[in-house]
Amino acid sequence: MKVQNIAVFVSGGGTNLQALIDAQNAGKIVSGKITLVIASNPAAYALTRAANAGIESAVVSRKEAATQAEFEEKIVSLLAEKNIDLIVLAGFMCILSESFTKRYPQRIINVHPSLIPSFCGKGYYGLRVHEAALSYGVKVTGATVHFVNEIPDGGRILLQKAVAIQDGDTPEILQKRVMEEAEWQILPQAVEMVCKEYSLKE
Ligand code: GAR
Repeated sequence: MKVQNIAVFVSGGGTNLQALIDAQNAGKIVSGKITLVIASNPAAYALTRAANAGIESAVVSRKEAATQAEFEEKIVSLLAEKNIDLIVLAGFMCILSESFTKRYPQRIINVHPSLIPSFCGKGYYGLRVHEAALSYGVKVTGATVHFVNEIPDGGRILLQKAVAIQDGDTPEILQKRVMEEAEWQILPQAVEMVCKEYSLKE
């Protein structure tokens, strides 16, 4: 049994990263260990969360790379250096190319703040997802954790959790409820589930 090395990719506040760190500290993630955090943005508060938890981090900015290939090569070499087994996209707001996702089949997971296949794919990220759910008028939304492949939000679903929409919800209020009631629960659960499966095979 080999504990899986996990890299978490972030771009912003990093509350999902915090949920993973807390789950690890609480003994809810035991088949994997977060050994690297990669931020696409040097101002991401997620970097402070990683530092506070004593986790190594790196910033790889898409803007500073000349091409998508150069951006991804930097990431690939960091992952190889740290022998990463599983990549977790936790509010990572950069697109990864097909050549990147094909390199890590069933080794990248993502948390998305809706019940896929609703409100997902190109252009649906962060608050926009909740704005779309409210403007459509759905009564139930939620979160999904899925494997990442070349289709945006298109890989096999691992876990989903529904969240009720309430009268007076704003995108911000709904985002917070979906995080608290769904994302922060199912992301750590899915990470342990996948790491456990891989660790038992090795
Ligand atoms: C989360 O709601 C996550 O599901 C979403 O961005 C937020 C990041 O928050 N991700 C996407 O929309 C990806 N398509 P966090 O930085 O506090 O974890």
